[in-house]
Amino acid sequence: MTYSSNMLADLEFSQDNFPSVIVNDGSIETLEQAQSWISKNQVILKKELACTGAILFRGFPVSDAVSYDNFFSAFGYNNFTYKESLSNAVRINYTDLVFSANEAPKEVEIYLHNEMAQTPIFPNIISLFCEKSADTGGATILCRSDIVYQKIAAAEPQLTEKLVEFGIKYTNIIPAADNPDSAQGRGWQSTLSVETRDQAEQKLLSLGYKWQWHSDGSLSAQTKALPAIKTIDSGRQVFFNQIIAAYKGWQGVKEDPSIGLCFGDDSAIPKHFLDSICAIGSANAYDLMWQDGDVAIVDNHLSMHGRRPYGGDSVRRVLVTLGV
Ligand SMILES: [Fe+2]
Repeated sequence: MTYSSNMLADLEFSQDNFPSVIVNDGSIETLEQAQSWISKNQVILKKELACTGAILFRGFPVSDAVSYDNFFSAFGYNNFTYKESLSNAVRINYTDLVFSANEAPKEVEIYLHNEMAQTPIFPNIISLFCEKSADTGGATILCRSDIVYQKIAAAEPQLTEKLVEFGIKYTNIIPAADNPDSAQGRGWQSTLSVETRDQAEQKLLSLGYKWQWHSDGSLSAQTKALPAIKTIDSGRQVFFNQIIAAYKGWQGVKEDPSIGLCFGDDSAIPKHFLDSICAIGSANAYDLMWQDGDVAIVDNHLSMHGRRPYGGDSVRRVLVTLGV
């Protein structure tokens, strides 16, 4: 298959072409052919991804976790494992590289976020593979982080400048044990890759966190100030954080933002600013309606992602792998 894309003539981005979509024209019939095609076009594919923020591959011979692992590996990214991450979602590993997307119940919406941007350790690339789409709903939401930044800066210049200057601190409750019914249900031993409370405290100290243990064995942990807006290689400024997911999805934060979020100088983030950010995110979101076998590669700095709730009796299976 000859690489062709309407993005290549002019690597300036148009919101109408988000995400880039590459459809197999039928000439790639085997996984080996797909791998060799990706290897051959790796440079241009990565250039396009750095321009558009997300590429959807449709109609390629990818059918399960193992073939997806092989397909993704052809891009040559370095591995970023779930185990080493500080992700707060409960997930299941299927291969060394591939694990389940957030196991939160189907009626739960996972709000827009940049992957693991609420921690100091995050991947540059997030990829998703749809093994089995949902009967209804279940779209992956994608949203351009640079466009969100531009719109927020235009709507709220002073508060956006404060985000740039001070960054943001996140506080979340890390459960005593894994709770798969929550979008943030990963227990502290798994999250921090430790066994004991002493080890947990050492790890938190090394990360610059503040913490407090609770009587039920859970833990409140507050990050150091993390960047909320970044300038990426192309010079574009991007909204890179978990503000929307925290405000709308973390328990109690919508009612009282101070329990989950504050500016990096410890001052409160006004609710109207958070509402404005969420509205801009929603207005610029794209629903990726999955077809079985689809693979998406997402630049974690250029695109936020999330998941719509879904219904029906079929089990939706969307798998994930991460790269740096
Ligand atoms: Fe995510």
